[in-house]
Order: sequence, then C-alpha cells, then structure tokens
Amino acid sequence: MTDTETATETNLKTRTVLVLNGPNLNLLGQRQPEIYGAETLSDVEARCRTEAEAHGLTLAFHQSNAEHALIDWIHAYRVGSAGIVINAGAYTHTSIAILDALNTCEVPIVECHISNVHRREAFRHHSYVSLAATAVMAGFGTHGYVLAVRHLAHLRDARP
Ligand code: DQA
Repeated sequence: MTDTETATETNLKTRTVLVLNGPNLNLLGQRQPEIYGAETLSDVEARCRTEAEAHGLTLAFHQSNAEHALIDWIHAYRVGSAGIVINAGAYTHTSIAILDALNTCEVPIVECHISNVHRREAFRHHSYVSLAATAVMAGFGTHGYVLAVRHLAHLRDARP
C-alpha cells in the first residue's frame, strides 16, 4: 500500500461512525412493536446514514445475534473511528466480554436503547455497556440512534 492509500484509508476511518446492533434487533418492526415501534432496522440504518452524511461522516451499520461478531466489529473500529453507537440488546445486561471489548476503545461510545430500560424489568436496569459508555440514550425510540450519531458528530467537531 502506498502512503497516499494509507492516508486515504485513515481519513475514511476517522470520518466513520459504527452503529452496532445486537441480538433480536434484526426483527425490529415485527418484534414487540408496542415497545420497539414499527420501524425496521433498514429504516433506522437509512435515517442514521442521512444524519451521518449531513455531518460529513460515513456510516458503518451492522447487526448480529452472535456475541463474537459484535466484539469483532468493536475491535475493527476501536481506534481511529469517529465513535461507536451500540445497542447490544440483551447482551447489555449480561456480557462482560462486550464490556471488555468496549474498554479497549479509544473512541467515544454511545450506548443506545430504543426503550426506557429503567422503566422495565429489574434485570434490564443494570448495563455492563454503561461502564464503558461516554453517553447513554434510552427511551427515545428509534430516534435515539439519530441523536446518538449527531452527538458523535458534535464530539468530533469539539475536538481541538
Ligand atoms: C433494548 C433493551 C434490552 O433490554 C433488550 O434486551 C433489547 C432491546 C432496547 O433497545 O430497548 O433487545 O436494548
């Protein structure tokens, strides 16, 4: 790889926001719509892309039901990206492995939940992700993702 290619790749990554979705979020729109709403994950991706591009950012958007896949994506964006928005789904409340991966990150992390987890069952009140998160969104519905992307753009602009 030439120096110019390396610089271009680095520049692209610096402008990229990773939005990461955990288990069952592939069923958004069908899954308990009274809690999670009618929008699909593709709808959310499109809204996040519009928001990211409005701020000169590039969007990487992924979902997996597998813990190891989520960890691999965190590793891919842990350094040099504009930040990570993560809705780890139920792994939020159980996964020390995801917390350990997030603790390796040098970039801001926004934890995002569609529902207000604090109004729900007690087991949803504890979040391992929160122990590594820069900021937390909960209860804003799917609009929370858009606000989280906007916040990462704001943090990038605020950097010296
Ligand atoms: C969720 C809340 C979690 O408790 C739940 O397991 C999810 C979705 C949310 O977006 O509100 O899968 O993260």
